[in-house]
Amino acid sequence: MNESLRSTVITGIGELVTNTPAGGQPGSFAAMSDAALVIEGDRVAWTGPGASAPEADDALDVGGRAVLPGFVDSHAHLVFAGERSAEFAARMAGQSYAAGGIRATVAATRAASDEELRAGLRRLASEMLRQGTTTFECKSGYGLTVRDEARSLAIAAELTPEVTYLGAHVVPAEFAADPAGYVALACGEMLEACAPYARWVDVFCERGAFGADAARAILAAGKARGLLPRVHANQLGPGPGVSVAVEAGAASADHCTFLTDADIDALASSGTVATLLPGAEFGTRQPYPDARRLLDAGVTVALATDCNPGSSYTSSMPFCVALAVRDMRMTAAEAVWSATAGGARALRRDDVGCLVPGARADLVILDAPSHAYLAYRPGVPLVRAVWKSGRMVAGEQLTSA
Ligand code: NIG
Ligand code: FE
Repeated sequence: MNESLRSTVITGIGELVTNTPAGGQPGSFAAMSDAALVIEGDRVAWTGPGASAPEADDALDVGGRAVLPGFVDSHAHLVFAGERSAEFAARMAGQSYAAGGIRATVAATRAASDEELRAGLRRLASEMLRQGTTTFECKSGYGLTVRDEARSLAIAAELTPEVTYLGAHVVPAEFAADPAGYVALACGEMLEACAPYARWVDVFCERGAFGADAARAILAAGKARGLLPRVHANQLGPGPGVSVAVEAGAASADHCTFLTDADIDALASSGTVATLLPGAEFGTRQPYPDARRLLDAGVTVALATDCNPGSSYTSSMPFCVALAVRDMRMTAAEAVWSATAGGARALRRDDVGCLVPGARADLVILDAPSHAYLAYRPGVPLVRAVWKSGRMVAGEQLTSA
């Protein structure tokens, strides 16, 4: 233990989800009962049986509650203005989802001030934190001009290091007659202006957005500028998105709703995570992705919210876990792993998504004895307290021991 850092011992943990089997490598769900955890500074310093918990400067007894790693939401579109509840209502009345709705948000986003965009992002980020999300990714994609994409990313970078350049979300209306001209802009001047704020490059590879060749060009340009690739793939129908993602060495292919056997094989034999976004299927009344088929083939699966004003206006990882268990036939353990360690894999992070010595002390204390309650009691605000980097940042104080 490091003498100079303030330490806290958390005892009375009914179930501690570590995502690291004892003596094993991180990689699958793992939990221990009647456990304790010690935090030193911003890191986890020790986990083990409650009976052998070491002393620390401060002590907190959580009274049998479950403690999980903070959720890692690896896919969100949070910098935008306006809303599209009428579009949602029309879908619930039978209309189908079309990527074109994005352009309505683009118009509102361009018209908004930096301050309005920042306030909207802060509201959603604080909503996420209160629901247990301690790491989130944030994309641009509602600006679609050099200025509006760059300011969206600069604002996102104020709150998260996981910033994604999505200039290739759709071709904006003013380029309708010249989509190749827009791809050139997205690979050139727009990328130059955006790259300083971003870690990732993403492209919406889908009919109505960008085809395989344009997607390849955008990912290659981003990589040449030092960005890491990820792809919106196979959301609205079968298509080349997954193979483009795997070929580019993407950290993640996101959505994966319409997959062929070849897509599944390609994912299984690659380092590309399949990030499933059940909020989007919920919000568009599409069929859910076949998580079982992916898991049984050995694909690494992440779960994320896809929070955006069009297809999936939820910021709740617990809601996504419940959907994955009820409607995608994931076990609660698989869903919780995918929402924590899986999201970390999709962001190529090894410091979050697990609770092992050395990991960031990002954790969620549930008003429930086990992780399974996230699906068993859907819609109930079970997140009692949230700790980020070793400090409680949201929720209600529990009485210190
Ligand atoms: O991930 N698929 C593309 N982008 C978003 C939807 C954006 C919107 O409808 O505004 C998604 O679902
Ligand atoms: Fe998305």
